[in-house]
Amino acid sequence: MGRPLSKAKPMHPEAARPTTFSASGPLRGEARLPGDKSISHRALMLGAAARGVTRIEGLSQGGDVRSTAAALSGMGVRVAGEGNAWEVHGLGTGGLLQPGCALDMGNSGTSTRLLMGLVASQPITAIFTGDASLSARPMGRVIGPLSRLGAQIEASPVGRLPLLVRGARPAVPLEHRMEVASAQVKSAILLAALNTPGVTRVIEPIATRDHSERMLKAFGAQIEVEGETISLRGAVELQAQRVRVPADPSAAAFPLVAALLVPGSELRLPGVGTNPGRAGLFHVLAEMGADVRLENPRETGGEPVADILVRASALRGVDVPPELAPSMIDEFPILFVAAALAQGTTRTTGLGELRVKESDRLAAMAAGLRAIGARVEETEDGLTVHGSGGEPLAGGATIDPRLDHRIAMAFAVAGLACRAPVTVADMSAADTSFPGFSALLGELAR
Ligand code: S3P
Repeated sequence: MGRPLSKAKPMHPEAARPTTFSASGPLRGEARLPGDKSISHRALMLGAAARGVTRIEGLSQGGDVRSTAAALSGMGVRVAGEGNAWEVHGLGTGGLLQPGCALDMGNSGTSTRLLMGLVASQPITAIFTGDASLSARPMGRVIGPLSRLGAQIEASPVGRLPLLVRGARPAVPLEHRMEVASAQVKSAILLAALNTPGVTRVIEPIATRDHSERMLKAFGAQIEVEGETISLRGAVELQAQRVRVPADPSAAAFPLVAALLVPGSELRLPGVGTNPGRAGLFHVLAEMGADVRLENPRETGGEPVADILVRASALRGVDVPPELAPSMIDEFPILFVAAALAQGTTRTTGLGELRVKESDRLAAMAAGLRAIGARVEETEDGLTVHGSGGEPLAGGATIDPRLDHRIAMAFAVAGLACRAPVTVADMSAADTSFPGFSALLGELAR
């Protein structure tokens, strides 16, 4: 069915796409959102590890998920589809084939870390490469535990891409206590555990998104979660499933905040994931006085979802408790934009992880917000943002998104709330998670 993924369009277009955003009329109507990026990666990978044909509806079409699909194709998995409906012809636990060339992870940290886990217990050797942003990100956090279960990993100095993973034959079960709150590290170990005889345990003192645990259960894995401990018995076959991917709350956050900031806006965002591990932004915005309603709560594919109704609101600054960080780790760039337009000061701490995302997001947001006229102080692990009290910011700057989709989209939204236009030097960065984002903003403001 459909076209095989390897013939898809290039994932990372070469040409920069400078795009200018300026004050708009109210945003109205319904926003069509991409499928959840985290869940899409996992659906492809578990589909590949299962027996039979997994059918996925609502798969993210972003570059990051395409990187995962292309890598799986490179390891012998047939992944094909069109638009919304995709099929993965699974090879069974431990069935991946030796890739014939390096696996290009593009911009995607999730593809890299989760696939390193999947490969770590297979009798194959894979080389992982990525773009300049990804090649600057730390991989030591997965190299450590995956080496302990028997994989041999050779990385560039200080644990960066490009790197080579030689799978363990056979892998040995591990008990791993998480040092950083990271769903990617947790998931990498659980994926490695699938082809590891015996019981692997991950202890997670600070909870992170649990999409892997939910989906592993649905595919028939022997997984148990008791308090902080996740146990998975490996070398058990998974069964192909039908997966319906909810709309991505981390993508929804951008039109949502745009609607809060542009007077007169009223927007509906249908079928958005509300997993508690992802819902921190909704809580913080409610504290800030945002009119955001979650309507018609229900379950889609084992995940909670709701329709979101958002109306333009006067926001006030808040102190964001650091404990909320893991449940909104991707939402800080757009929260900082909301804070820059709020009444009063927003303080954040405990956000050291933001320095090792697709860019150093604390530095990128502080520099960009200052360039458009906001008052911001940067600390080692957070930003303090003094809001304009709802007055438009000056704008009139060009922002380098630093190969980071969320920086690009955050400043696109900021442009709607500035006196002079804001240019994002390369909006193609947004394609990694939200293809069509700029066009959508334009349509909603019409
Ligand atoms: C993700 C986990 C988060 C998040 C990333 C996606 C996932 O990373 O920032 O965008 O799908 O597991 P960490 O687990 O490294 O915090």
